[in-house]
Amino acid sequence: MTLLRAKDLTKRFVLRGPLGSRAEFTAVDKVSFEVRLGETLAVVGESGSGKSTTARMIAKLMDPTEGVLEFEGEDVTAAKKDALARFRANVQVVFQDPFSSLNPRHTVERILMAPLVYQGIAPKGDRRSHAKELMERVGLNPDHSLRYPAQFSGGQAQRIGIARALAVNPKLVICDEAVSALDVSVQAQVIELLRRLQRESGFSYVFIAHDLAVVRQIAQRVAVMSKGKIVELGTTAQVFGDPQDEYTRTLLAAIPRIDPEWDRRRREAT
Ligand SMILES: Nc1ncnc2c1ncn2[C@@H]1O[C@H](COP(=O)(O)OP(=O)(O)OP(=O)(O)O)[C@@H](O)[C@H]1O
Ligand SMILES: [Mg+2]
Repeated sequence: MTLLRAKDLTKRFVLRGPLGSRAEFTAVDKVSFEVRLGETLAVVGESGSGKSTTARMIAKLMDPTEGVLEFEGEDVTAAKKDALARFRANVQVVFQDPFSSLNPRHTVERILMAPLVYQGIAPKGDRRSHAKELMERVGLNPDHSLRYPAQFSGGQAQRIGIARALAVNPKLVICDEAVSALDVSVQAQVIELLRRLQRESGFSYVFIAHDLAVVRQIAQRVAVMSKGKIVELGTTAQVFGDPQDEYTRTLLAAIPRIDPEWDRRRREAT
């Protein structure tokens, strides 16, 4: 079942130069894809290929210049007010840098209660105990609910960012390089957490990452972006095992080979 559908999403930025000159730059160029219920769709591609811009458009943090965005079959491209608030309850984003996306002057409890206040949701029990439950779900000590973000490590802070995304019980969580800044061992733990949360709650992920080894662990399907376009989209096995696009092959060739079995199959396939 299709949860979210992007149809020809396009983002053009106007660049203003000296003497009032203007140039247009197409950061995302007619990108179409769907996100299915319960799946993890990874988006990979070189820096500047348009991954974050695509993420911002499908999270409705930025309007597309052209194209249509549908959520559960409804056109939400121009959603405002109530429709937008409903969309925000269903689609949440986890960003790369937890410290810059968490208000440093708010306690974790307040950070985790804010989405419920915004949505006017009164959970079973009260919001305070809901915040503590969220902390437990993401592996944080609920006794630390009155601490501030700076009192947590990077990995713990990212767990707060994940808990905040889950506070409203979304159907889609967009992770934009959500584990990219973490140390390898911490990264593995947070990936395991993301997988467990999905098993428990059945939501979908759009998982943006430059580390293809991570993508292989978590995604069922992969979209490859280059210069604002999706150049290849298929199951993880297809894209990694039998890439059709020249750019995908280049991207795959650049991965450090750490999985001997996969490396063997890759060498046999080429
Ligand atoms: N607000 C903006 N104004 C002008 N250009 C922008 C703006 N935001 C992004 N761009 C440009 O659009 C292109 C795509 O950027 P985007 O951030 O989507 O890439 P990305 O694939 O997420 O890259 P990275 O892997 O480095 O995060 C880049 O060339 C970027 O410089
Ligand atoms: Mg980006």
